[in-house]
Amino acid sequence: MSNYVTTPIFYVNAEPHLGHAYTAIAADAYCRFQRLRGHEVRLQTGTDEHGDKIAAAAAAAGITPQAYADRISALFKEMAGPLGIAFDHFIRTTDPAHRRVVQGALARLHDQGDIVLSDYSGLYCRGCERFLTEKELVDGLCPDHRTPPDPLSEQNYFFKMSRYQDWLIDHIRQHPEFITPERYRNEVLSFLSEPLEDLCISRPVSRLTWGIPLPFDQNFVTYVWFDALLNYLSGLGYDPAAGGPAGDVARFWPRAEHVVAKDILKPHAIYWPTMLRALGLAPYWRLHVHGYWNVNDTKMSKSIGNVVRPLELVADYGADAVRYFLLREMSFGLDAAFSQEALEARYNSDLANDLGNLVSRTLAMAQKFTAGAVPEVGEEDGQLDRELVAAVGRLGQEFDLRLADFQFHRALQAVWEVIGLANRYIVVNAPWELAKDQGRRGRLSLVIYNLLETLRHIALALGPVMPETARLMLTALGLGGVDAQGRLGQWGGVLRPGAPVKLTAPLFPRRERHPEETSPPAGPVAAKQASRQEAQAKGQPVADSPGLIDFDYFKRLDLRVATVLAAEPVKKSDRLLKLTVAAPEPRTVVAGLAGHYSPEEVVGRQVIIVANLKPAKLMGIESQGMVLAAKDGDRLLVSAVAGEVAPGVRVS
Ligand code: MSP
Repeated sequence: MSNYVTTPIFYVNAEPHLGHAYTAIAADAYCRFQRLRGHEVRLQTGTDEHGDKIAAAAAAAGITPQAYADRISALFKEMAGPLGIAFDHFIRTTDPAHRRVVQGALARLHDQGDIVLSDYSGLYCRGCERFLTEKELVDGLCPDHRTPPDPLSEQNYFFKMSRYQDWLIDHIRQHPEFITPERYRNEVLSFLSEPLEDLCISRPVSRLTWGIPLPFDQNFVTYVWFDALLNYLSGLGYDPAAGGPAGDVARFWPRAEHVVAKDILKPHAIYWPTMLRALGLAPYWRLHVHGYWNVNDTKMSKSIGNVVRPLELVADYGADAVRYFLLREMSFGLDAAFSQEALEARYNSDLANDLGNLVSRTLAMAQKFTAGAVPEVGEEDGQLDRELVAAVGRLGQEFDLRLADFQFHRALQAVWEVIGLANRYIVVNAPWELAKDQGRRGRLSLVIYNLLETLRHIALALGPVMPETARLMLTALGLGGVDAQGRLGQWGGVLRPGAPVKLTAPLFPRRERHPEETSPPAGPVAAKQASRQEAQAKGQPVADSPGLIDFDYFKRLDLRVATVLAAEPVKKSDRLLKLTVAAPEPRTVVAGLAGHYSPEEVVGRQVIIVANLKPAKLMGIESQGMVLAAKDGDRLLVSAVAGEVAPGVRVS
């Protein structure tokens, strides 16, 4: 079966921002996932170019609507490449082929009596480009635009949407997958519990000329939503005059899936299925609805002026890090908060620390201990090895289920569980110790093989979300493209013993931003926030009340549980102990615990460390972090968590 996945077509009244990019990245990651599973997929995106808003934006810019649309549409198209969005078709509603489809559909519905002329008086919102009902108003204002609607009285054409209301309710009830997540399905069903009004689908040319003329009345142009929704069919070469689906419509329509945010739920969940029904076509298969990216608790939008430009983020962090952050941070369906600090924190902890370190340590150990090649394994598996293999097997199942359901954040969480496990596997097996013992060479080879094999699965899982990272990882493992490297979760049989493995550059070099650091970070987005961060860097609180720090500032601290593996006194110091801790990777931390704790007393304890403190030399020893402890008069009590946890777990 061939999948057909679409993003909304974006209005060309404003430049692309991160909200638009998110929808397209989610759609793209899902398509890549389906392609890697061997399905044929078509991804369509594009621009919505008619209507009041665009005519007004063009007038403000002093150019024709078409010239304006050309300019902004190109920006949306150009955004795709750098973000790794591999679309198959980019549609514009000013394409002549699309205009013909809209006119054909209008003619057909008019001929069959589904479109009728009628008098209408109502309250018209220019922002929404539609009449609002009294019930929708909040304190007499449009709830979205917070402006009073204009009373208007005019003749218009109406689509008899109400004819299809009962059918739509039945369809939604019988197909739980039709609108997801469930909260949006419930919202639509609740809206449908009241009688539907017919949909006004025309605008008189006296008021608006920038639209597709109605084929049966030249005094009107088409309402922008009726025009826009049809892009999903015109992009497939739909012919409204044909009896039934043919060509690409027959091939792709049964598995059509739309990805949208909650702002355009109603047109997609109500207008569109009823239009399809009236045209004699089956409804689309699924509608995936996500929440808003907010900045400071407000929806990111041009009119509010709080937009983040996706390409600036890509220039700063790279496409894969941006894709990862967006898909990991937002629970699909709910709103999420964007801040550069949150992106920075995920970059450093998830990408540089967890993933980047795992990859570079594993490949460095393969260089050192198995001659830079996949080792031959003869050794029997032990308990730890079986745990790792089982976790990779579970990932194979869980990842597919989650991704098929647009639960990107859950899918990625599952990948990071395996990354965490693999990092602990290194600490517990301590390959550097095995290497000291000739008699344990077999075990060493098995450990390195298992780690390389785990990396292969991690790369396979990351393919849809971080295509370039996956490619680099597979290349480092001596493998080619992500599509020919075995199935996620199926252990073994792909890495060839003796094949060279090598990482040419670290995947996600750490972006150091310690509170002591004074130089502003590089990059266009970072530069904008530099003065705020400079204040933070100097330890100045940036929240409104003196003495308080804001939450984003706190979040920059990487606090981790660390297991003390070894401890020894520091020569010539009666205050310092040199600790080797696992967090989860081994590191040295010099702590002022001597005199309060003997080395034996601290070994085996789990303490809390500041893991992203800039390394500092104490008595000639580099300390890579700081152990937290409570000082109570003369007593010093080292920090702890209330039960045993995996080393490296984050404290927040
Ligand atoms: N042109 C219509 C859609 C027609 S589809 C047949 C439109 N365009 S839009 O440019 O306003 O884009 C809206 C879409 O952009 C949202 O549904 C969502 O996909 C994306 N987003 C815009 N702002 C967003 C956020 N702040 N957060 C998340 N997504 C956002 O509506």
